[in-house]
Amino acid sequence: MYWDFLLHRGYMVRFEFLFVPAKISDFPQCRTHATTGVSPEYGDHEFVWQTNFGPIYRLKGCFGEDSLMISDPVALQYIVNSSHFEHGPLLVNVIDMLFGKKSLVAAKGDAHRRLRAAMNPGFSAAAVRNYQPVLLRAAQQLSEKLEESYTKAPTSLVSICPLLGNATFSAVVQAGFGCSTQDLGDKFVANNAQIVALSSSQSAPRTFAIGACLPNWIWRTMIHAPLATFKEIRTAKYLTHQLGKKIVDGKMDLARQGLEIDTDVFGILLDQYLGGKTKHALSPKEVAAQFSALVYPGQDPTANTIAFGLLELAKDSEFQETLRAEIQSSIAASYDSMPLLNAFIKEVLRLYPAAAMIQRIAIEDTAIPLSDSIEIANGELITQIPVAKGQVLTLGVASFQRLERYWGEDAQKFRPTRWLDRTITPHGSALGPYANLLSFLGGPRVCLGWRFAILEMQVFFLELISKFSFALSEDDFVRMRFSGALIPVLPNGSEKAAPMFITPI
Ligand code: HEM
Repeated sequence: MYWDFLLHRGYMVRFEFLFVPAKISDFPQCRTHATTGVSPEYGDHEFVWQTNFGPIYRLKGCFGEDSLMISDPVALQYIVNSSHFEHGPLLVNVIDMLFGKKSLVAAKGDAHRRLRAAMNPGFSAAAVRNYQPVLLRAAQQLSEKLEESYTKAPTSLVSICPLLGNATFSAVVQAGFGCSTQDLGDKFVANNAQIVALSSSQSAPRTFAIGACLPNWIWRTMIHAPLATFKEIRTAKYLTHQLGKKIVDGKMDLARQGLEIDTDVFGILLDQYLGGKTKHALSPKEVAAQFSALVYPGQDPTANTIAFGLLELAKDSEFQETLRAEIQSSIAASYDSMPLLNAFIKEVLRLYPAAAMIQRIAIEDTAIPLSDSIEIANGELITQIPVAKGQVLTLGVASFQRLERYWGEDAQKFRPTRWLDRTITPHGSALGPYANLLSFLGGPRVCLGWRFAILEMQVFFLELISKFSFALSEDDFVRMRFSGALIPVLPNGSEKAAPMFITPI
């Protein structure tokens, strides 16, 4: 591999180190974890390495395999828009198991382009505006649950994560398929909870990481092993297949009776097929195969992002009051015309990107351009890094979104007003679809539901902040963990949680 060759020859001075710190005492923040028993937080190493080694460096995977960690915006822009890269081995394992090959998430090349073209209308700006009542209802139901829980136990901490998870699950099911979560049946609701829990478990990502290092045929055989994780995934695959088909059949029946069906994503997709107006339209069978592509990515990332936002509000009562004042003074205004609310959402997405690290693999030899030239050992300046087919890359989304050079000297700090006081330096490369952030990725694989997620956050934050105040308990501090998704956890690191006092106003 070009890149290995350069490394072994000691060419790239800035990449010449191994990622595992030799001793825990090399990193002062880890000393604290070692003595207090508090588990390390996501970024404790990564953000220090970025400061020490710059926005591109070499990482070792769990079996010693090489990966290139990248947070340089020009390099990231090239990778997300280039056809030379695909999902990395770890992601492919999860995707094939859970989503199935016909799903948008698994499709590649022309098949992916066709599915995207067909599905985009279900998430256009106009379509998403029409889902607003669904989002409002989900947010109001959440408010009601919070009020009930306050009435029962006014002085208790509220565990917000499961409530947020149920609310975003309900919203995506209603907007995606036009039905309620109960309509999907108890078996699916229970299995959905298990699948969502996998993204916050510590053991499942390890299993997938091991699988990524095995030959594909062994991994495919392992899927049939009687392990709880695999059993849950097999059940999910079976149920999502059945439910996708059932929902599509029901909508086709309604359409045959002359009834309107284009009020949810599946309805819009089937309407395109029945109207015959677009060459991209998906057949009913192809639409049914997209059930899992909407239901899984459509709930947990948004719920976790909202939880992190509420935690930040709970930490800063002054900011919380200012934001509440803006919301209360613009009750009849549109969501987009509330500057502080939108700055707050951007800052939450900047510091807490659900996909904090994204794996990719080069499927052809290529060269990745860089923002700045790098001096190599012989004094030569290079402006691009050659990578060979098969090279695994880690897109350091969270690292990029903390680069002081672009986001300001206080980039590690949660400060929403940076979006209003022009302290952000443009990085010159158009990256993601929203606020030049990569939280929703960008390019052909940009998050399908990014507009939906933004509106959902606007609706939920507005509803919750106008009705409740949020505070943390004194001895409680929640931390970030990344195990496939960025989640809030308790200090012992074992459990997804964002406990806080939530008091009606
Ligand atoms: C804050 C909330 C969300 C965040 C941060 C987020 C982030 C992302 C990211 C980073 C990807 C790219 C993953 C990759 O290619 O490796 C992605 C893909 C995707 N997201 Fe989201 N997402 C969110 C909400 C949603 C919602 C609400 C939906 C649907 C209703 C959705 C549906 C999808 C789908 C279907 C894909 C696959 C797109 C493709 O491969 O073409 N996401 N999302």
